[in-house]
Amino acid sequence: MKTRITELFGIEHPIIQGGMHYVGFAELAAAVSNAGGLGLITGLTQKSPEALANEIRRCREMTDKPFGVNLTFLPTVSSPDYPGYIRAIVEGGVKVVETAGNNPQKWLPGLHEAGVKVIHKCTSVRHSLKAEAIGCDAVSVDGFECGGHPGEDDIPNFILLPRAADELKIPFVASGGMADGRSLAAALSLGADGINMGTRFIATQEAPVHENVKKAIVAASELDTRLVMRPLRNTERVLRNAAVDRLLEKEKTLGANLKFEDIIDEVAGVYPKIMLDGTMDAGAWSCGMVAGLIHDIPTVRELIDRIMAQAESIIRGRLARFVA
Ligand SMILES: Cc1cc2nc3c(=O)[nH]c(=O)nc-3n(C[C@H](O)[C@H](O)[C@H](O)COP(=O)(O)O)c2cc1C
Repeated sequence: MKTRITELFGIEHPIIQGGMHYVGFAELAAAVSNAGGLGLITGLTQKSPEALANEIRRCREMTDKPFGVNLTFLPTVSSPDYPGYIRAIVEGGVKVVETAGNNPQKWLPGLHEAGVKVIHKCTSVRHSLKAEAIGCDAVSVDGFECGGHPGEDDIPNFILLPRAADELKIPFVASGGMADGRSLAAALSLGADGINMGTRFIATQEAPVHENVKKAIVAASELDTRLVMRPLRNTERVLRNAAVDRLLEKEKTLGANLKFEDIIDEVAGVYPKIMLDGTMDAGAWSCGMVAGLIHDIPTVRELIDRIMAQAESIIRGRLARFVA
């Protein structure tokens, strides 16, 4: 399949694996790229620019296909060493960066000079247009369904994607709720040039996370996610568990007085405990509504081949028949 996204990134299939904290290690990124998609190493999961440089080297040993790095710009006071991370990306010869969070404008000239293509993740049309205006090469449009941070507008992809298609000139991928060939065919119909998946890629053989995480996603239905941290305007979609129930109770009790310190036990530093140790109630961890569409733990290649075959069969068969 050829789209503006496969052309832009030099990949075979229009499928991207979104950056995921403590999931996006070299093993997963390489598996996705080897299967013809675009795998991404999650930059900030690596504790320092040196560690990221090492992770990029490890990934390069596992694949000769293009892969990228996710850089999430956090709204925190003590900022990570972003110039160092960008140096590691450029010196490591990585040609694609997925940015997310705050506006990436300040980092674009350096990345573009080094021949790096930038895809910015946005949860609204206005942010997507801003990304286009500042010179991003593509956008990942993340609907309300998504695992992680859906923003504060709550617009699902059935509205958000065609709205983005009406306004954007640069190519975009549909992100949030994407699971299979039906998702890909629908995303293409709505104007996207491909899909970005997070949660679906966690439930794969190669995802280097504890088996308990994969099993929790397979066991979950579309009813099992919750939105947390809305009162802090830092909304995150997570899988419901004991810690999330506790957190929501605090939100209810404290109302507008809620501060980050009140929920620190449920959200700070929980990812290694969950993803690496498999302690599933250790805190709130991102998971999309798409869990309801995930019933198995295939290899990444099986998953991507299946998505492509199903999308093609829908386009050539089911859809073509309606207009024959
Ligand atoms: C466990 C998990 C961790 C994530 N961590 C990040 C992150 O660190 N940075 C980021 O930009 N997006 C992060 N995301 C969002 C994904 O990159 C992607 O946009 C999202 O999962 C798409 O929605 P889906 O889960 O419905 O496929 C994370 C998602 C999950 C499920």
